[in-house]
Amino acid sequence: MLRRRDLVVGAAAFAGSAAAGVFAVGRTQVEAREVIAEPIAHDVKSIMFDLAERPTALPCFGGKTLPLWTFDSGATFPIVRMKLGERLDTVFKNHLPRDGEVATIHWHGLRIPNTQDGVPYMTQKPIAPGEEGRYSFVPPDTGSFFFHTHCNSTEHFGRGLIGVLIVEGDEIAPPDAEYVLLMKDWRIGPDGKFLPFSTDEGAAKGGTPGTVRSVNGATAPVITVPSSANVRIRLYNLDPMRISEIGFEDAQSAIIAIDGNGLPPMTFESWRLGTAMRVDILLRTAAPGGSIKLYDYYSAEPFVLAEFKSEGPAKRTDAFDPTPLKVMPFPKVDEANAQIIPMEFSATPTGQAVAAIGAGPGIEIGPLCLAKRTFWAINKQAWPGRDHRDLGPPLAVLKSGQSYIFELDNTTPRSHPIHIHGHTFEVLNSSKRKLPRFRCDTVLLIPNERIQVGVVAGLPGKWMFHCHILEHQEAGMMGYIEVV
Ligand code: C2O
Ligand code: CU
Repeated sequence: MLRRRDLVVGAAAFAGSAAAGVFAVGRTQVEAREVIAEPIAHDVKSIMFDLAERPTALPCFGGKTLPLWTFDSGATFPIVRMKLGERLDTVFKNHLPRDGEVATIHWHGLRIPNTQDGVPYMTQKPIAPGEEGRYSFVPPDTGSFFFHTHCNSTEHFGRGLIGVLIVEGDEIAPPDAEYVLLMKDWRIGPDGKFLPFSTDEGAAKGGTPGTVRSVNGATAPVITVPSSANVRIRLYNLDPMRISEIGFEDAQSAIIAIDGNGLPPMTFESWRLGTAMRVDILLRTAAPGGSIKLYDYYSAEPFVLAEFKSEGPAKRTDAFDPTPLKVMPFPKVDEANAQIIPMEFSATPTGQAVAAIGAGPGIEIGPLCLAKRTFWAINKQAWPGRDHRDLGPPLAVLKSGQSYIFELDNTTPRSHPIHIHGHTFEVLNSSKRKLPRFRCDTVLLIPNERIQVGVVAGLPGKWMFHCHILEHQEAGMMGYIEVV
């Protein structure tokens, strides 16, 4: 139970009488799940997906056509836009071209009911080829989210099966333009075909890297923008493994949201993005005729991700003074009374075989969406336990509405972007870096770093908790949290 004074709740975010029932609070006490229960929607947005193989020639493929797997026949990466308060109804058909290639859709970063979370076996029966699946929910927060399948993900991401979900309604001062940038590499061999998406070598280290980089399917795209304008950039790292350190060479800009969560605008020097992580940036574009480059500084040589080329007359002459986004109501972490839960991220001794499945050469995906050997573990437990039909015990059992501090301890020489389903972390401190305070759904642990994050247990259910380097996830660095 959560006392009312502990909540940061504003029914105003969901305007009108419909909100009243949702945030109806008792005199003194309120069930936490009421706090983030689904708001009652006014409008319904319906989408239909048809997951299938579609040979596609993206600009970065150098004239080659590759057998991508995509959500629909339109854009390679669909962008679903909706307004806060709308319900999203999704029907999808699985037409993936392989027997037993099951699919579910996970809505990354959304605090929606557990039954809609799209984790095969855990929250739903996986959808087999030829079958149809459905989701229906009202996102409780605005922000830059995305969606993806949750089985054999290294290959699915590798073939492009990802989409963007934007929940609008957070802008106080609308920008002059908005752009969605999706970073993703591709593993293409010299023969122009896909290379194996996963390797033992990669899975045991930082992941198997792509050979061709891209932003929105192009190599260092030049994007035309209005001159001297304030533009919003929703930047996604949706590579299966890459870690980037993004930054502009010389520009006035600010980070206005992390993983969709608004924060006081933070001067943007550079920011490290592991896979699945997002930032929203407000950029003052160059004067007419000028251009600004976005770099990845993580590699030995700075790498140009994209270029923003100004065109047309100057839009603004005022000083750059970014307006913050509206921050959605969220339960506040009660740090003083939070229980501390240690979570250690480690390597397993030697690439243990998953007993119930048996080791094989290379990474093959067996039942329950796992690689056949494990290299990684959380609290010394490599997912799954001994019997893969049994999910094994949760990493922790949390009480809905109560505050916890997860002590995330990376005892490996690799970075791990750690993701929790259905919740947000509030980053409190790091043993190695000075970090601002921010909320996110995926937090990057650098080698041998310890980070404390606050979590308020949300809706009841079994929530996945894993590294988002997909080969790490599939090779053991995964578990779940149970909220009761
Ligand atoms: Cu994008 Cu289980 O995560
Ligand atoms: Cu990892």
